[in-house]
Amino acid sequence: SDPALVERARAAKAALGDSVFVLGHHYQRDEVIQFADVTGDSFKLAQKAAARPEAPYIVFCGVHFMAESADILTAPHQKVILPDLGAGCSMADMATFDQVEECWDVLEDAGVADDVVPVTYMNSSADIKGFVGRHGGVVCTSSNAKRALDWAYSKGKKVLFLPDQHLGRNTAVLEMGFSLDDCVVYSPHRREGGLTHEQLRDARMILWRGHCSVHGRFTKESVDEVRARVPGVNVLVHPECRHEVVTAADQIGSTEYIIKAIEAADPGTSWAVGTELNLVRRLANAHPDKNVMFLDKTVCYCSTMNRIDLPHLVWSLESLVRGEVENVITVDEDTARNARAALDQMLALP
Ligand code: 13P
Ligand code: SF4
Repeated sequence: SDPALVERARAAKAALGDSVFVLGHHYQRDEVIQFADVTGDSFKLAQKAAARPEAPYIVFCGVHFMAESADILTAPHQKVILPDLGAGCSMADMATFDQVEECWDVLEDAGVADDVVPVTYMNSSADIKGFVGRHGGVVCTSSNAKRALDWAYSKGKKVLFLPDQHLGRNTAVLEMGFSLDDCVVYSPHRREGGLTHEQLRDARMILWRGHCSVHGRFTKESVDEVRARVPGVNVLVHPECRHEVVTAADQIGSTEYIIKAIEAADPGTSWAVGTELNLVRRLANAHPDKNVMFLDKTVCYCSTMNRIDLPHLVWSLESLVRGEVENVITVDEDTARNARAALDQMLALP
């Protein structure tokens, strides 16, 4: 990255001192992550958002839904800044508030809504988290989905899982002993979600038809191909991957899990990692004694995570030095109260 920009970021951060707290998700670019005070997966970043209550500014190097959650979880005087407002998430966009309200009406018409506990993946808008909180549900991330579902099934007979069908299905089937037939997929663009009332009554897990466009690219063929090419390779994938990919893999976990697994691996071992490319590259560079490779040959950055680049970070920090607070992410208090209930429930999971 441009040394002049690196120097400007360093100078601005030094000038701001303890008044700024920079959080960085593991999918961020190297040029950005080097300036993070804390790096983490979605869960760790939600936990750490409130770790510096004395800092008036939190610069969130990640995507919009994470910055919203940070705003909900931090003190009212703290401002959360997203260096590029275009850093959204295509998966989060797959469930809008109106669609989810409509889905709930369908569940009511089918006579099952009273049995349903809604669970939303962190990767959803604050509106959706608010909806889930209002209906007594919980947020989960890829590192605690099983615990969140165990909790939800202690409260009700069925779960509506938003918006990532893969995380919901993979957790239910691979970690909770559900069959594929226990799961149905609700399609927001089809009438009544494309499901009959009977299907909704029989299902234990109602999955929203959403997915991650990055992890959705990995296929069973990528796993077969790497196993044929690299003898003894360990295949390690994120649970946002499709069910047949996760089933064919050796290990499954969140980004934080993936990092720990590679750190703990023996020298000389081979690892094909199915997650975002910035992270896999960084892991490969950090562990030259291990053979760490990307699971698929097609390049797989998350384009929205990548929108936070060094020029945007420098702009955010230098604006703060000038006393200008740009790109503040705020969640209205009504939504925030309900969303906080669902987030707090997640943070309190055993
Ligand atoms: P985790 O941070 O929970 O591993 O999730 C990955 C992701 O897709 C974030 O958008
Ligand atoms: Fe969204 Fe997937 Fe990018 Fe994560 S990796 S921010 S789920 S599009």
